Amino acid sequence: MVAETSLEARQLVLPVFVREGLSEPRAISSMPGVFQHTRSTLLAAVAEAAELGLGGVMLFGIPETKDAVGSGATDPAGILNLAITDVVAEVGDALTVMSDLCLDEFTDHGHCGLLTPDGRVDNDKTLEAYAEMARAQSDAGVQMVGPSGMMDGQVAVIREALDADGHEEVSILAYSAKYASAFFGPFREAVDSSLEGDRRTYQQDPPNALEGVREALLDIEQGADIVMVKPALAYLDVVRRVRDAVDVPVAAYNVSGEFSMLEAAAARGWIEREPAILETLISIRRAGADVVLTYWAAEAARLLAR
Ligand code: PBG
Repeated sequence: MVAETSLEARQLVLPVFVREGLSEPRAISSMPGVFQHTRSTLLAAVAEAAELGLGGVMLFGIPETKDAVGSGATDPAGILNLAITDVVAEVGDALTVMSDLCLDEFTDHGHCGLLTPDGRVDNDKTLEAYAEMARAQSDAGVQMVGPSGMMDGQVAVIREALDADGHEEVSILAYSAKYASAFFGPFREAVDSSLEGDRRTYQQDPPNALEGVREALLDIEQGADIVMVKPALAYLDVVRRVRDAVDVPVAAYNVSGEFSMLEAAAARGWIEREPAILETLISIRRAGADVVLTYWAAEAARLLAR
């Protein structure tokens, strides 16, 4: 009667991985129960997500070959762009189809942007590539793009590219306060990342919360429809601060490392898995997230329904 916070399937978004050239799904060893999908098993996964009433799916593509400029990201026949078209046809009327708009899955150096000759990430050159990626993804039919590369000015450039391309209807979920986090570790296996070093020159510094709020406000000014804080659990205070500072929906990404920690402890019998999952997700909602991206989205929806 007096619960202050709810957890509902519609508030959850399932991140899904699709890999070029697979003939059957491949398990991700650091993320028990999560798979790299083939184009056809991906469709089964998103159909289930739709049936369970999830709010959306976030697509990540893993190309067979990577190169310095991430060509697979902008190629209309690239795995992510093909998957977008497939998924929209399958479930586009039932939930929101979102795609990761970032180069790191497609570059052989694993960075989210293009590099200068001396190996630094070139912010402004990368923006041009993101604009092209936005055009490719919207031409493929995506409904919402998720720029996750943390380049300054990325939301403005993507909004402009979408509008100029006749895709005013495509919305933007901005990874606004994305921290340079150790909790992304298992994701790097999930996307076969070749990253060496770190992303500290473009992702946020963990001690800074006000800066996370400023990033969210800047993204809204540039046209973000939803702003996101990521990771979720180690940054619940940032989720709350952003929620209190903005008037758009706030999302939080319960990332791979947060998922795998709980799974690992549960596998050892050290914590009780299902209640811990639900407690984790309600805590992110209580902190102020309207939308939660989580690898448990489908399972949580099932638990909530019973
Ligand atoms: C970058 C991206 C990352 C994640 C989502 N998008 C990795 C990174 O920034 O290193 C991490 C998601 C997770 O850990 O679950 N495209």
